[in-house]
Amino acid sequence: MNAVLKSAAPSYVRNTKLVDWVNQMAALTKPDRVVWCDGSQEENDRLLAEMCASGMLKKLNPAKRPNSYLALSDPNDVARVEERTFVCSETREAAGPMNNWVAPAEMRATMNRLFDGAMRGRTMYVVPFSMGPLGSHIAQIGVELTDSPYVVVSMRIMTRMGRAVYDVLGEEGYFVPCVHSVGLPLTPGQADVRWPCNNDEKWIVHFPETREIWSFGSGYGGNALLGKKCLALRIASVMARDEGWLAEHMLILGVTDPQGRKTYVTGAFPSACGKTNFAMLVPPRQGFEGWKVTTIGEDIAWIKPHADGKFYAINPEAGYFGVAPGTNYHTNPNCMTAVERDTIFTNVAETPDGDVWWEGMTDTPPSKLIDWQGKEWTPGCGRPAAHANSRFTVPATRCPSLDPQWDDPNGVPISAFLFGGRRSDTTPLVTEALDWDDGVYKAATMGSETTAAIAGKQGVVRRDPMAMIAFVGYNMGDYFRHWLKMGRTVSQPPRIFQVNWFRKNAQGKFVWPGFGDNMRVLRWVVERCAGTGRARSTALGFTPGYEDLHWEGLDFDAGQFETVSGIDHAKWQAELGMHDELFKKLEGFVPSELLDRRKGLAERLGT
Ligand code: GTP
Ligand code: SPV
Ligand code: MN
Repeated sequence: MNAVLKSAAPSYVRNTKLVDWVNQMAALTKPDRVVWCDGSQEENDRLLAEMCASGMLKKLNPAKRPNSYLALSDPNDVARVEERTFVCSETREAAGPMNNWVAPAEMRATMNRLFDGAMRGRTMYVVPFSMGPLGSHIAQIGVELTDSPYVVVSMRIMTRMGRAVYDVLGEEGYFVPCVHSVGLPLTPGQADVRWPCNNDEKWIVHFPETREIWSFGSGYGGNALLGKKCLALRIASVMARDEGWLAEHMLILGVTDPQGRKTYVTGAFPSACGKTNFAMLVPPRQGFEGWKVTTIGEDIAWIKPHADGKFYAINPEAGYFGVAPGTNYHTNPNCMTAVERDTIFTNVAETPDGDVWWEGMTDTPPSKLIDWQGKEWTPGCGRPAAHANSRFTVPATRCPSLDPQWDDPNGVPISAFLFGGRRSDTTPLVTEALDWDDGVYKAATMGSETTAAIAGKQGVVRRDPMAMIAFVGYNMGDYFRHWLKMGRTVSQPPRIFQVNWFRKNAQGKFVWPGFGDNMRVLRWVVERCAGTGRARSTALGFTPGYEDLHWEGLDFDAGQFETVSGIDHAKWQAELGMHDELFKKLEGFVPSELLDRRKGLAERLGT
């Protein structure tokens, strides 16, 4: 069955551009069949059953983990591949020095070669999705063509996916075209592998001017679920620049104080630096009676200026694709409750009774497991049972702390932006920026140690401006300029704070307890926004003294506080050198406001 016929779109698909494009892509990729997804329960059940039959998914024990599945990926397809991610704008300058760039014509030739026949022996699924509430003025529609049924069921959790999208699209509506192939065509009779992908070639490609996404060779996470990092960040950042808003790598949460007053806060932390956990925070029991944190989003925020002088944010996603290791009922009870059912797990370990386990879930590991590569595992065998970037995919509606307004098409008003990297030293627990531009400087020069969420070396400090180093679809210098400008478009810009939960002591142990205790910092942030929080002035900005945070229920003395919040001038000297390296990379593009801020900071540090 090699001849591809017209894909026979269902009658409710009335968008001729879409139908033409699907036919064109089917002619190029040559799948055995084309399936137009409607997002229905029946369709989902059928795909899950097919994947269980093929071995791509395993159904977990329904008595332990109802309606949940486990996927084990190819060992070479476990994380985002930044080195294989490209921004193909018309000019190299438009992509800027922080993005991999190939001229669009050359990249199109490569894509046409790679995708020619790429879906042979497979099904092409047409997956319509909305990032943001259906029909919201902030939302964007995308259509992903994929040959991975795992991607289809994941997109159904992560986005508003299905037939209703076609109604919003109508005859003339605009959509972002997203093409994805695992890059492993099958010849007639050839048996498939458990996790198809291409181990020779991986390409995550964006054309910002024509707003297209092409992804080849990977079936994992942000490489393959194209609504997430590709559309909602890289392409959306370009839309945001052109239209005057912000597409950011940020969680969004609400804090309710004992008087019932609500403050919304966002946080930009690099991959695997605590967004999902912070978004689901449970305040300490003692001393925080009446305080509540609710979750709007845990990875991405689209933020627009509003006529009332504030920024309003929505979460464009509908599900969570979160890091499993380290998650447990003590550090993140909301998350553990969310994944009790209706969850797809990827690359975690399996228990003998058909449940899941990962490092950090319990203090004592089970005596026997099947690890993330399908091998027998026993404690002390020398290998991790779950991959460090193993993840769960779960609908937002499963989250016990979900904010009632999480789905509000107008978003929620934001009072504070937090920026936080993973730093063993140098960056203090919390510092409030002097003003908007100082906050932009702090965010732009943020450093963080690399994690398992990115293929490659881990634990290396790199600059990660706004936690967006891998997600800005244009020149980083212009992105800084856009941030400076956006702060001037509203009369009440959010306050900006720099945070770091990850300072270590001489023994290499985290000093700050983190997780729920991050509420102690969050409360101070809320108090600062309300004008009641006290602060001292330091070379870096405004910080709380030991006595300005609430310590009830935690044994943390002034000495420990100094360890997590002290300013080491020698380290800051080195830090300024790293700011300079970033600016050197961006030479000619850095806004003068930020260069001035660099001078001011050096003067305050006395260097
Ligand atoms: P992505 O989904 O990759 O964008 O990551 P994320 O920013 O959502 O990070 P996540 O909340 O999943 O946390 C990543 C890892 O850091 C997990 O292993 C967490 O257990 C750990 N972590 C999160 N918050 C804290 C914290 O406050 N302190 C410490 N020590 N670890 C934390
Ligand atoms: C990240 O790496 O920031 C993630 C995981 O959230 S992925 O969706 O794979 O990009
Ligand atoms: Mn996350």
